[in-house]
Amino acid sequence: SRARSIHVVEVGPRDGLQNEARVLPVAARIGLIKALAGAGLRTIEAGSFVSPRHVPQMADTAGVLAGLSLPPKIRLPVLVPNGRGFGDALTAGARSIAVFAAASESFSRHNIGRGIDQSLADYRPIVAEARAKGLRVRGYVSCVLGCPYEGKVPLTRVVDVATRLADMGCEEVSLGDTIGVGTPDDARAMVSAVAGEIGIASVALHFHDTYGQALANVLACLDLGVTTVDSAVAGLGGCPYAPGASGNLATEDLVYMLAGLGVETGVDLRRLTAAGTAVCAVLGTKPRSRAAQALAAQ
Ligand code: HMG
Ligand code: MG
Repeated sequence: SRARSIHVVEVGPRDGLQNEARVLPVAARIGLIKALAGAGLRTIEAGSFVSPRHVPQMADTAGVLAGLSLPPKIRLPVLVPNGRGFGDALTAGARSIAVFAAASESFSRHNIGRGIDQSLADYRPIVAEARAKGLRVRGYVSCVLGCPYEGKVPLTRVVDVATRLADMGCEEVSLGDTIGVGTPDDARAMVSAVAGEIGIASVALHFHDTYGQALANVLACLDLGVTTVDSAVAGLGGCPYAPGASGNLATEDLVYMLAGLGVETGVDLRRLTAAGTAVCAVLGTKPRSRAAQALAAQ
């Protein structure tokens, strides 16, 4: 049954900014994260420790963490692709990390230069060490409803990768429709199959809005008892390794819908919209959130 409150994981400062054409200076990334915390978001993905040659938008995530002095109850997870990234994240003081795998072999090779099995083998000791040090660990599965290179992805593969991430110690597994091709019945069937193995409490939804399906997909999964949903303020972002992927589900639209359904998020929609408008002004874009556009027109 539907949860009474949803934990919104704000991924705009990472998944959003990593695919914006304009590279934001560290100070602007810090300003965005502070504004999002001020709007009531409690988990804000702060960046990633990946190769700046591959993703220049996420360079100097250490500088972003160093410039934030938010209360410890605000979680600031960062992505780590390998041992080097994990070491850098620890040095930067990260208390929460995410490793990222894929349900598609081709996507895995394009994104992180390794196949699925190798990536999981590499993540295992990182996750173990992180947990032993008391860090929170999330695992991502990309391409859960389709792959830009392989097309359809078998459900069994999604369940298998999600289960292996959970088994190695990821407390939460985020199911990413990386290219935003999924529709509600497929999304629900996929989430239900994964939850059957790892439990719905360990599942996070991560929809991109390429075909305008993200909000409908969330709604289709809510009654499964989902408690965690990823979204990006202003609908920022996409994925540099997923051609055609548009932004994430917009946090404003998610918060508006959940408020209407009587589901608590703790997020102040007007302050959130202001944060999105401000970052878009620096990026030279307009918020893609429909709720933000409607509020701006009032
Ligand atoms: P590689 O080229 O395959 O392997 O990179 P490498 O180990 O030979 O490293 C190449 C270069 O990167 C070397 O530097 C390394 O030193 C450096 P160079 O000699 O060329 O100057 N390097 C690093 N630098 C900084 N931090 C590191 C690091 N590791 C190596 N940790 C690597 C492998 C994984 C690093 C690379 O492929 C990479 O950075 N990929 C970027 C992956 C990425 O950030 N993708 C986007 C996030 S995933 C996503 O968006 C999906 C998600 O949102 C869910 C969904 O929607 O589905 C999570
Ligand atoms: Mg994503």
